[in-house]
Amino acid sequence: MRADHSGRAQAPGEGREALLEVRDLVKHFPLTQGVLFRRQIGAVKAVDGISFDLHKGETLGIVGESGCGKSTVAKLVTHLEQPTSGTIRYKGEDVTRLSGRALKAVRRNIQMVFQDPYTSLNPRMTVGDIVGEPFDIHPEVAPKGDRRRRVQELLDVVGLNPEYINRYPHQFSGGQRQRIGIARGLALRPEVIVADEPVSALDVSVQAQVVNLMERLQDEFGLSYMFIAHDLSIVRHISDRVAVMYLGKIVEIGTETEIYDHPTHPYTQALLSAVPVPDPESEGKRERIVLEGDVPSPANPPSGCRFRTRCWKAQQRCADEEPALAVPENFAATLPDEPVHHPSACHFAAERATVIPPVG
Ligand SMILES: Nc1ncnc2c1ncn2[C@@H]1O[C@H](COP(=O)(O)OP(=O)(O)OP(=O)(O)O)[C@@H](O)[C@H]1O
Ligand code: SF4
Ligand SMILES: [Mg+2]
Repeated sequence: MRADHSGRAQAPGEGREALLEVRDLVKHFPLTQGVLFRRQIGAVKAVDGISFDLHKGETLGIVGESGCGKSTVAKLVTHLEQPTSGTIRYKGEDVTRLSGRALKAVRRNIQMVFQDPYTSLNPRMTVGDIVGEPFDIHPEVAPKGDRRRRVQELLDVVGLNPEYINRYPHQFSGGQRQRIGIARGLALRPEVIVADEPVSALDVSVQAQVVNLMERLQDEFGLSYMFIAHDLSIVRHISDRVAVMYLGKIVEIGTETEIYDHPTHPYTQALLSAVPVPDPESEGKRERIVLEGDVPSPANPPSGCRFRTRCWKAQQRCADEEPALAVPENFAATLPDEPVHHPSACHFAAERATVIPPVG
């Protein structure tokens, strides 16, 4: 089995610079008990050993059910949380243990756009203050006398009237507020934007506008995106590569075509089987995989393969041995450009056509 955790070998434009190299990243949140004497009784394994690369100019989509650790990954990459262990290299330098000025310089280059444009903007600040706030921390990017002009430029770039600079967030629609959030994310001219559910709180018609804006800005500024979303169709639309997460792990990673048209992991297949297909003929022929049972607690994940309690293909080996995220043995002989040749953490990885549907 080829030990390729990053999915790099399958990336389009292989050889492109890896801006971010994440390796064996772990975030455990302690679970405590007691009022006077708090003692740790366990840990929520929110992110439990994940590895991936983010290349210059690409969009890496991250999908998975609620609670699988997507936002925690976003917070680790943007340094809003400290990892329990593992490394995040930015342009070759391990940034996980940086502090002071060195950390500040890296944080400037990796910005986050948040999910809810209604709560993530301070209602008492004007749009000018919100978008220009990052300049307080990094005055070298925009000297005081130049800020108003810079903020107006940013508003213009995201399609807002620069004259709205003195308005307050409540005077804008949801889509406009998300544009304000994006303008703020762009203020420091970052190279990487981590967008955590940036369109989930918006109406469908507005979602497309914001996604299109993000695509345009990516081309214009050569940005790399990590794009987290529940909506698998939106992720497909915007992503070059996609990572599928389950209970703190990446279970499958590959190009958009590899993941959407040739998934080999049962969890990915189940997720995708629930996405409606526009063509009624293929929609009629499709078999929906309904996953039984709840997602297990991340404080006490199943042994071996974490998906085994809900997987219709599970066998004894799945309980005994954790599957590595690598090109599965049965596909190792395929050529790297064949779509099944991508990392999938399953002992019995197979294309959907050969998957036995669930009984009952
Ligand atoms: N600060 C924290 N303290 C304790 N547990 C946390 C903390 N933050 C997240 N968790 C737990 O870690 C797990 C992963 O949470 P996370 O927010 O990363 O999931 P998610 O994939 O973003 O979910 P959603 O799709 O609902 O946004 C969850 O079980 C969550 O309850
Ligand atoms: S390793 Fe086993 S339990 Fe896990 S996804 Fe594959 S078949 Fe299912
Ligand atoms: Mg989240």
